[in-house]
Amino acid sequence: MDSVFLPADVDDWSLLDHCGVRNALERDGWRFVAAGDWAVVLGDPTGRYAARISPFERAYQYFVELCRRHPGNRWLPTIHAATNLAGGGHLTVMELLTPRHIPDDDHPDPVWSSDDSDLATVRADVERTYADCKANVQWWGSLDVKPAHFLLDSEGQLKLVDPFGLAGAELYGMAESDYPSFCKLVPTDERRYMLQIPHFSQSYAAPLLRTLRAVISAHDAC
Ligand SMILES: Nc1ncnc2c1ncn2[C@@H]1O[C@H](COP(=O)(O)OP(=O)(O)O)[C@@H](O)[C@H]1O
Ligand SMILES: [Mg+2]
Repeated sequence: MDSVFLPADVDDWSLLDHCGVRNALERDGWRFVAAGDWAVVLGDPTGRYAARISPFERAYQYFVELCRRHPGNRWLPTIHAATNLAGGGHLTVMELLTPRHIPDDDHPDPVWSSDDSDLATVRADVERTYADCKANVQWWGSLDVKPAHFLLDSEGQLKLVDPFGLAGAELYGMAESDYPSFCKLVPTDERRYMLQIPHFSQSYAAPLLRTLRAVISAHDAC
């Protein structure tokens, strides 16, 4: 990853974990913008770039590849850099977008079904990628084209982010009920920070977090 707008004191971003990346960016003036269940997003001091950092990521890579297949499509953010991180996380640097003030809603944004031809191109690829991953990627979740995933770029154009994801309840459910089988599906180096996704800083997730910590330490003690 070689990007002039990233702090120059880091040679190889893929050697850092999610905390190392966040520290390096915050030292350089990047600041928290938003968080979801899996990732936090920081904005750079110029207001042009966003860094999406996740501690444990197995889905966003497919969105990055999708964006790269359609450079210049006005419905997708420009991706400036992306890399897997140490311990199983992922970093994407892309254009900074602005959320709209809209109520929470999990249904597809009405714009998703518009007949705009650039959007139709994106929709066709999203649907193809989604079906392919559904058949091949463990715990593949549902398509997430809710209004909160359409943000505005600097010219007022809506852009889609994060349409794909894993079914967290199923993934963490298996870790809870059958940790040895879970470990066979997810190598150690890819799950080192699986309990550090932002979801687990929510108070409602505390009981599951406690259980998972107990399951993991009992397993590690064997
Ligand atoms: N490029 C971006 N610029 C500004 N905010 C963003 C950008 N991408 C995502 N966000 C915000 O960060 C939130 C979390 O990012 P998202 O990729 O949806 O992560 P998660 O997988 O945790 O849901 C989004 O819902 C959105 O509000
Ligand atoms: Mg999201």
